[in-house]
Amino acid sequence: MTQYSKRMVIVHWLTLALLIVAWYLGHELDEARHEAGATLFGYVMHALVGGTVLLLTILRLYFRSKDGTPPAMGDTLLDKVAKGVHHGLYAVLILLSASGVMTVVASSVGKALQAGDATLLPKKFSGVFAHDIHEWLVTVLILVVVVHLLGAIKHQFITKDGLMERMSLRRKD
Ligand code: HEM
Ligand code: HEM
Repeated sequence: MTQYSKRMVIVHWLTLALLIVAWYLGHELDEARHEAGATLFGYVMHALVGGTVLLLTILRLYFRSKDGTPPAMGDTLLDKVAKGVHHGLYAVLILLSASGVMTVVASSVGKALQAGDATLLPKKFSGVFAHDIHEWLVTVLILVVVVHLLGAIKHQFITKDGLMERMSLRRKD
């Protein structure tokens, strides 16, 4: 096996696209709330996209256990770091989405959605620990993805060892 399975590749790139949308919608929500213009629809859309990321991550870990992964590129310290980064990404993806769900449950967002009443939406999330964690994990995710991206760029342009092909739909054989 020299490449990730097709379904692993599809979920990898779909997750990237959904994360960009979830990140954008999360920021729009935050801004709208500060201007007292947040809507139930906004919260539902953000939760749906974020929730899809969680489901896809669980599905991906299942595919990973069934399909396996190509062997490590090498045995250097950087290869070990890359593996750690991959595990870290899976952990952040799950914790980020879970903290989003907890934010809904622990704040009045849940009540507002249940009642279909936007006036119940929170003005502030002060004291909602899950919201602090959610915000903090967004920053952690961005930092870890940047490290992951730098690794991919190094392989593509400096080592030139064809690593990107492992995460490509174009099959080598
Ligand atoms: C995994 C992908 C997700 C990403 C990338 C993401 C990103 C964000 C961002 C950037 C914010 C704004 C943070 C800020 O206040 O500066 C936010 C807020 C929020 N997110 Fe998420 N989120 C995700 C998943 C979820 C899920 C699954 C839920 C709920 C089911 C959720 C619920 C919320 C809520 C309630 C807020 C507060 C919005 C506000 O400030 O009014 N998120 N998210
Ligand atoms: C920003 C653009 C991205 C590029 C260019 C990229 C590229 C790659 C490449 C080439 C691999 C294969 C590495 C190997 O074979 O050792 C990989 C694996 C992986 N990527 Fe990305 N990636 C990107 C974004 C992301 C994002 C946003 C996430 C999730 C937050 C992510 C999560 C992962 C994980 C978890 C693996 C390991 C797969 C496994 O072994 O199960 N990637 N990525």
